[in-house]
Amino acid sequence: MIVIAHLSDVHVDASARSRARTKATMEFLDSLAYDFEAVIVTGDVADHGLESEYEWIREHVLSSRHPVLTCPGNHDRRDVFRRVLLGEEPAAPEAPVNQVLRGDGFVLALCDSSVPGKDEGFLEEETLAWLEKELARTAEGTPVFVGFHHPPAELGIPFVDGIRQFGEDRLAAVARRHPSIAAFLCGHAHTAAVTSFAERPVLVAPGVVSMSKLPWEQSGDPQDYVYKDEMAPSLAFHVLHDDGRLTTHFRSVPVR
Ligand SMILES: [Fe+2]
Ligand SMILES: [Fe+2]
Repeated sequence: MIVIAHLSDVHVDASARSRARTKATMEFLDSLAYDFEAVIVTGDVADHGLESEYEWIREHVLSSRHPVLTCPGNHDRRDVFRRVLLGEEPAAPEAPVNQVLRGDGFVLALCDSSVPGKDEGFLEEETLAWLEKELARTAEGTPVFVGFHHPPAELGIPFVDGIRQFGEDRLAAVARRHPSIAAFLCGHAHTAAVTSFAERPVLVAPGVVSMSKLPWEQSGDPQDYVYKDEMAPSLAFHVLHDDGRLTTHFRSVPVR
């Protein structure tokens, strides 16, 4: 059995609130006896892309006893993300941040779906070529989880659907060529959701910092679109069974 803990949208800023919710989630994971094969944070890691925000994340999230991988969201800044979280000073600091974890019996490919200066998502050609190469070098029968920030399909939440991942036909074409893709893992919606894309599950982690209100939970006031302290920070656990099936569980975490 392989278990990937999946959190998203921690939006760490200078506030005690965002830090307390993120810390509670990481302390919960670190307090468990189980050793997760990976913990992923699918974007909107730093709320303003500031160096001080990433330094806090490095200290309180990447310091976990589990292997942690993060990818950028629309609130992140590629250059600062790369420098502070990955310790890299590349020649092209604005290039997409793509990372792979080759585990025992699974592969996790985290793609950068952010578009500098925009809220919507898009996988650059460079990212798709990178993903295709990682898929090609994966042994047949090894499941690959493809993660990114922006869902490539509508979720039925208009303000999220308007800034989802676009250009998704190119990703669907990659998925058709690679049956080893087991699921797409994403965030951005700030609510737990499950849908499908290219005949694969799309598993959306809930938000740590807040929860989006679903259309039928909103009053009609345009400001009434989010739950803040009324909802606890939450995360997903993806379980890959020995027979290849996938189960996702969702869990809320108390903030003390
Ligand atoms: Fe977010
Ligand atoms: Fe986002």
